[in-house]
Amino acid sequence: MSLSLQAAEHPRLHQLPQTNQLKALMTIIRDKNTTRSDFVFYSDRVIRLLVEEGLNYLPVVHKQVITPMGIPFEGVSFEGRICGVSIMRAGESMEQGLRDVCTSVRIGKVLIQRDERTAQPKLYYSKLPKDIANRWVLLLDPMLATGGSAMKCIEVLMEAGVQEERILFINLICAPEGALKMLERFPKLQIITAEIDESMDANKFILPGLGDFGDRYFGTE
Ligand code: PRP
Ligand code: URA
Repeated sequence: MSLSLQAAEHPRLHQLPQTNQLKALMTIIRDKNTTRSDFVFYSDRVIRLLVEEGLNYLPVVHKQVITPMGIPFEGVSFEGRICGVSIMRAGESMEQGLRDVCTSVRIGKVLIQRDERTAQPKLYYSKLPKDIANRWVLLLDPMLATGGSAMKCIEVLMEAGVQEERILFINLICAPEGALKMLERFPKLQIITAEIDESMDANKFILPGLGDFGDRYFGTE
């Protein structure tokens, strides 16, 4: 079954602006002939765009500053504290992109692996910041296929006291079926993605997709 999903149709699914720059970057990383070093370089560029976009969904409060011209400027500053949580292993590829914009950000890790035969997620390990219940969480995983891995991770976060509305799930590519399932199951979750694909194959790989992100990024193909 192939479900279609336009970001504009869902208020909690935010797609990066479909600029020519983004399309060119995504074309490179989707190309099976792209070398590993280019895959890493261009994925990192997309990740940086996604993290910057994710920050747009954090709350701000009014802040006045005085400019060097001696004039008050009515601006804003971020309210509340954040942390990253990466789903190992592929999500670890997104940690540097977050650190590049949020210096000394705390990053929790949850090791979840899909069973290669059934595509069912299995939780092996988690280590989260102690005060995570008081933070906004940028959940990092490049691929949203069935949504099983990310949903399991969100369960772990909520058991640790994180409020659902404070979770921003950032990924590069999502399959419509998985994204819809997540948005239904978690009615306050926000998803930020670069591109929404068409479907999945029998092994639950995204189509057209880019193959196995973790294997291509870390060179374990
Ligand atoms: C990949 C990917 C996601 C998951 C997505 O990880 O990084 O975590 O699959 O699929 P889902 O939405 O159907 O759960 P994988 O388990 O292959 O491990 P890896 O990070 O080691 O590549
Ligand atoms: N994980 C990946 O890396 N790619 C897919 O297409 C699906 C899950």
